[in-house]
This record gives sequence, C-alpha cells and structure tokens, in this order.
Amino acid sequence: MSLTVFRKAHFNAAHRLYRKDWSEERNEEIFGKCNNPNFHGHNYELEVGVTGEVDPETGYLIDMKVLKDLIREEVEDAFDHKNLNVEVPEFANLNPTAENIAKVIWEKLRKRLDSDFKLSVKLYETPRNFVLFTG
Ligand code: NI
Repeated sequence: MSLTVFRKAHFNAAHRLYRKDWSEERNEEIFGKCNNPNFHGHNYELEVGVTGEVDPETGYLIDMKVLKDLIREEVEDAFDHKNLNVEVPEFANLNPTAENIAKVIWEKLRKRLDSDFKLSVKLYETPRNFVLFTG
C-alpha cells in the first residue's frame, strides 16, 4: 500500500544560466537567452509529495500545517523574490537550472522530514517545462 499527500507552493525568482569557467561564446551557445547577463524571472510552481504510512489514530500521513510551514521556511522564505545566482548561497557555484533548483529544494526538505517518509519534488519553471526529483 502506498499513499502520497501533496502540497503546492510557488515563488517568483530571477536567475541567469551560465558557467563562470566558460567563455562568453560558449555560454551563449549553450544557454542562449537564459544567459542574459541582466537576469530574467520565472513564476516557479512547486508540488511537494510525501509518501508514507497513514497514522491509524489520526488518519493523517503528515500534518499538512507542518508540511506547509516547512515549505515556507525552506523554499518560499529562501527563494521568493530573490535573485537565485546572487542571493541564494546554494547557487553561488551551482547553475540555477530547474533541475538543480528541484534538487536543492529536495535536499533542504529531506533534512527536515522524518526518514520514514519518501519525498518527491516537482518544479514547474513554466507551465510546460517541469522536472521531477525523487532522490
Ligand atoms: Ni530561465
């Protein structure tokens, strides 16, 4: 038996995709418009899934208030209205692609969740482009 609860959240953030160790030409070739030195923004949509056992006493898998507060602390307070490259330490030396952002979010939440739970992070960078990270 397997049951997953989901919590949605969102944040707005700016980023630029580039590698410091690459030439400007190489960055332009690989990252195109996303390499704009003046940055650009996305409305990120997040779906966090927690899989585990339902407590027979409460009928809860996890208290959604706890999950909501966790996402607020670790993701919304840390990323919302921020420039990811400049203001978020995890991306000081990590390209803030949707792939890497999803992994960073997963790692931050993983540390705070009971190890009995399985965790999934789905991150939409645009309505049509999204990634799923499950560890
Ligand atoms: Ni972008």
